[in-house]
Amino acid sequence: MTDSIVVSAEALTAYFTELFVRFGATPATGNEVAVHLVEANLTGHDSHGALRAPWYLEKIEAGELDPKAVPAIVTEGPTTAVIDGGWGFGQPASRLAMETAIDKARQLGVGCVAVRNANHMGRVGYYTAMAAADGMVGLGCVNLHGASPCVAPFGGIDRRLPTNPFSVAFPADRQPIFLADMTTSVVAEGKLQVRRNKGLQAEEQWIIDHDGNATTDPWKFYAEPVGALLPMGGVVAHKGFALSMAIEGLAGGLSGAGCSNPTAERHGNACWYTVIRIDAFTPLDEFKANVGKLIDHVKSSRKAAGVQEILYPGEPEHLRRQERLRDGLAIDGQTWEWLGRKAALVGVVPPAAKD
Ligand SMILES: NC(=O)c1ccc[n+]([C@@H]2O[C@H](COP(=O)([O-])OP(=O)(O)OC[C@H]3O[C@@H](n4cnc5c(N)ncnc54)[C@H](O)[C@@H]3O)[C@@H](O)[C@H]2O)c1
Repeated sequence: MTDSIVVSAEALTAYFTELFVRFGATPATGNEVAVHLVEANLTGHDSHGALRAPWYLEKIEAGELDPKAVPAIVTEGPTTAVIDGGWGFGQPASRLAMETAIDKARQLGVGCVAVRNANHMGRVGYYTAMAAADGMVGLGCVNLHGASPCVAPFGGIDRRLPTNPFSVAFPADRQPIFLADMTTSVVAEGKLQVRRNKGLQAEEQWIIDHDGNATTDPWKFYAEPVGALLPMGGVVAHKGFALSMAIEGLAGGLSGAGCSNPTAERHGNACWYTVIRIDAFTPLDEFKANVGKLIDHVKSSRKAAGVQEILYPGEPEHLRRQERLRDGLAIDGQTWEWLGRKAALVGVVPPAAKD
């Protein structure tokens, strides 16, 4: 097992930008994707950061990701739109979707935009947060274009659904904004990959093996015959399962990409975003003050044993970001080696470790 390397966010962004450009992206798109991935590492979501960069490069090599694709609106109404990502990077398609939804909400109170034919778009909350930064409510959810199931349905043991994430963001009278952003499986599959890469075990009740037995060995999930992740919820996992199926209809169904099914082969991200202009309902300052009071209310609870502070959704990411900007980003050795092999193919030199 190779040790992790610590690099600065700045150096990692420059490295990824150069790699994506050498693999065919324009400098603007390369940088957009690089910033998104590094932001995931900064906010503590290593499952959606550097780990994804060599995978994107492999998708370009395999012809599954067109690094030059430009997303476009293919259907549009006053408050709705559908975007075709041209099978490029998912990030520019999701940004266009959110910009379009924000624009429509600004004019008419609500904007609702779906995305199809796009690759992995990273963190859903990155995009719902754009609406909150503009004083609006952002909602988003994603399925995998009908393909790549890795989560068992409630009561089943076979892979039938993806980790189908969803996010809700809105502003408060303070920073950070409220940002709920999560999978409907018990954990993001990438978090299991990070554990596997570091030679660590999974937590109890994350995964089952091929025969449905509880296990903490990541290889029982990844190696043939494969196992499955469990839906979110523990003893009430039927609720995570219900949410995941709801997301199938919203993201897969409304976008036209398709819901999870046994014949879908092309892995992608189909998305559904909705933006609501708060002052179409209530004055923005009043809304923000209400959210602030809610935050104070939940934080005023007595703490459970071992808990230093009650945090609200979005706050752990905000705190982690400050730490990691200061201390640098630890990238696991396996991901770093995989990236290095790709970089060597196009003559890009990896950055040095942070002092
Ligand atoms: N593009 C895709 O295909 C895809 C698939 C799955 C997940 N994702 C992304 O993966 C990321 C990680 O998802 P996850 O489910 O592992 O997130 P997570 O479990 O780390 O966090 C889920 C939510 O809980 C909040 N939270 C976490 N710890 C908390 C605490 N101690 N107190 C209060 N709130 C807390 C977070 O702020 C967040 O809103 C998300 O950004 C998601 O969008 C993307």
